Amino acid sequence: MAREVTHEATGPKPIDEDDFGDDGKAYICQCGLSDDRPFCDGSHRAVADEEDGVVYKYEGEGRRREIEEIRYAEE
Ligand code: FES
Repeated sequence: MAREVTHEATGPKPIDEDDFGDDGKAYICQCGLSDDRPFCDGSHRAVADEEDGVVYKYEGEGRRREIEEIRYAEE
């Protein structure tokens, strides 16, 4: 399983003490789908049924498509 995720951010997001929960931890999104990046917002639940060997593109609002081939523009 793998996924292509489009991000539009152009710079860093500062993290301060308010970003840490009562347990003293901050959970960083590893799936790439969070709307509250860099923090996990639970969106990773959408990837639970991804199949091995398939690449997915997530297009927002829960829409997901399988990618058959990635083509790169010529340089
Ligand atoms: S790990 Fe990405 S939303 Fe939780």
